[in-house]
Amino acid sequence: MIRIIEVKDLWKRFQDGTEAIKGVSVKFETNKLTCIIGPSGCGKTTLLKHLNQLEAPTSGDILIDNESIFSQDEVALRRKIGYVIQKIGLFPHMTIADNISIVPKLLKWEKRTYQKRVDEMLELVSLEPDIYANRYPLELSGGQQQRVGVARALAADPNIILMDEPFSALDPISREQLQEHLQEIQKRLKKTIVFVTHDMDEALKIADKIVLMKDGEVEQIGTPDEIVNHPANDFVRSFIGTERMQRFQKTSKRDVGSLRQWYVSEIDVPAQPVEADYSVAEAVELMVQQDVLAIEIKEGEQILGYLTKDRILEALVLERGDAS
Ligand SMILES: Nc1ncnc2c1ncn2[C@@H]1O[C@H](COP(=O)(O)OP(=O)(O)O)[C@@H](O)[C@H]1O
Ligand SMILES: [Mg+2]
Repeated sequence: MIRIIEVKDLWKRFQDGTEAIKGVSVKFETNKLTCIIGPSGCGKTTLLKHLNQLEAPTSGDILIDNESIFSQDEVALRRKIGYVIQKIGLFPHMTIADNISIVPKLLKWEKRTYQKRVDEMLELVSLEPDIYANRYPLELSGGQQQRVGVARALAADPNIILMDEPFSALDPISREQLQEHLQEIQKRLKKTIVFVTHDMDEALKIADKIVLMKDGEVEQIGTPDEIVNHPANDFVRSFIGTERMQRFQKTSKRDVGSLRQWYVSEIDVPAQPVEADYSVAEAVELMVQQDVLAIEIKEGEQILGYLTKDRILEALVLERGDAS
């Protein structure tokens, strides 16, 4: 099922005059985890809240699969979208099982169906149902509670999941575990995930795509590789930081010669599919032989990105530079 969210020239001015969002246009794609990142107060939460109509825009539109969300019933919309926030938001007087089955109950699932679902969801986030289903939130650690938060967001099987700094209140070890867990879950479930964070290491680790914001505007959209290797401006560069840039570039040097580190997420010409493990030289050969202007880089069925002839020539030159 396709669930593409398209934000079109979104503006938000709050009643007190604060301009929180200033002309943001961005696409969130299916089977991609997109991180929205930027300094505190840059509008990340405000942007996210527009996606499930917790905020109304001053102007602009948001489409899900080409249909404006503002022509849809907002309660019904919200039930189709999972939402995880930093402050977990479990109901303390309800058991873990009751917390997870809130939306399935609102959707009037049969009791047997949602009880089974609770067990599945707990297993998905690695919490033994027999032990945890009947406990109360305060009988769990912070990391475990946040797992329940994720289980609850996934319970009604939404295609879209919004997460607002879900792991930032956790200790580093729980945070790392949950990041890895989320990546595993995403590999299996292939949702459209929009994940807000202010932590660049977190974004570089888990994101398929990063949307970097400052003062209500988008500064750059790209894959982690693109952001680190081709920062659009000085702000992006300083937000990444020199130390992190060098560290990341070192790790991506390991697969010099493969196409992975060069691709971009969008092009406007037809493209020839190529496996991600091709070297840059092999790709050039193919482009010449097939007389195509661009290639589509695939890993199995998944499209990782695209390369145009210009970009690939740039890659070739830079790689030669590396070798000498
Ligand atoms: N309800 C509100 N009324 C007025 N200003 C707000 C409101 N909510 C957020 N803001 C302001 O909008 C800007 C963006 O806030 P927010 O989206 O929460 O940023 P972030 O999540 O990136 O830290 C900030 O300047 C914040 O103070
Ligand atoms: Mg926020």
